[in-house]
Amino acid sequence: MYDTKILPPTPEGIREAAEILRNGGIAAIPTETVYGLAANALDENACREIFKAKGRPSDNPLIVHIGRFEDIYKYAEGVSGNALRLAREFMPGPLTMVLPKKDIIPAVTSGGLDTVGIRFPANKTAQAVINECGYPLAAPSANLSGSPSPTALSHVVRDMSGRIPAIVDGGCCTVGVESTVLTFDERDRAVILRPGFVTPEDIGGIIGEDNVICSAGVTERVAEGERVLSPGMKYKHYAPKANVTIIEGSYDGYVEYVAAHNGSGVFGAVEDNRSYPFSSLFWGASPEEQARRLFDVLRGLDDRNAVQAYFPCPEKKGVGLAVYNRLLRAAGFEVIRL
Ligand code: TXA
Ligand code: MG
Repeated sequence: MYDTKILPPTPEGIREAAEILRNGGIAAIPTETVYGLAANALDENACREIFKAKGRPSDNPLIVHIGRFEDIYKYAEGVSGNALRLAREFMPGPLTMVLPKKDIIPAVTSGGLDTVGIRFPANKTAQAVINECGYPLAAPSANLSGSPSPTALSHVVRDMSGRIPAIVDGGCCTVGVESTVLTFDERDRAVILRPGFVTPEDIGGIIGEDNVICSAGVTERVAEGERVLSPGMKYKHYAPKANVTIIEGSYDGYVEYVAAHNGSGVFGAVEDNRSYPFSSLFWGASPEEQARRLFDVLRGLDDRNAVQAYFPCPEKKGVGLAVYNRLLRAAGFEVIRL
């Protein structure tokens, strides 16, 4: 048990977090996407502590966060032409590139794979902690494995209090969904493993739309035992205790469906659901706002002991695709098409 310290995002707070990390400890830090649970990526023992604190399966690799652009070349082998084009455009930012790894990245960090996910976060506090530390930081989202990712300090406190020595306060995350994860195939096409704020359309704009592929796991359930490009895709994710269902259809159809299935502990995005109206998240909100608020809404269901939540279906393009991908996993792929 730790007496978890909340550190301010000041030079002193950042120094204290870096000190913990340099000594092989772990600490939660803000990024622009979600809070991360960080450890020295080059230290196997420190990375093992991350898996323990999160309750994360050990075959699920950790993303390596760098604080300077050139560091891509320190940890990745053979950065392809399109990888470099995308890195130049979107780094620092909410993009993770899975590339062949250099030996310096331990197997514990890469989940036993011969690749490494590299991300250069745009968040200034994250950059400051990494650079003060002098090591790249392995960091998964700072939630308990399976629960919604943390996008506010209170979320991290809820999941990690007592489990880690420190949390750096970075307020609320501006993006709200985790980074876009992609890799490259033998023809140097980008294969999106997890959609995010950097959209397929954005990526196509840089390397050509014919060079962008969405992995099937983005919108479909990966069959039990099937080999997946990204191990994280096979786990149930982001789930509140309530059963989550996506309703695909018109606004009127949705409202009718929710009214017909109303009951105690049942929540929907409708105005007259006074106990927890999350209607503003879906009707009239931009996909960017949905992304920013989604995990907070999912956590809010637990706070209200929800039993069942009906969500309208987000747009399946642009940033909406990232919202849809997270919601699908929260719903265990349960979609009702009206
Ligand atoms: O925005 C983010 O990416 C946040 C912040 C903290 O940076 N991090 C994050 O990490 O979401 P995590 O561990 O919760 O999700 C990383 C995803 C997992 O699905 C994992 O399987 C995949 O990326 N991944 C990481 N390294 C990989 C690799 N070498 N090959 C394939 N997939 C990889
Ligand atoms: Mg995660």
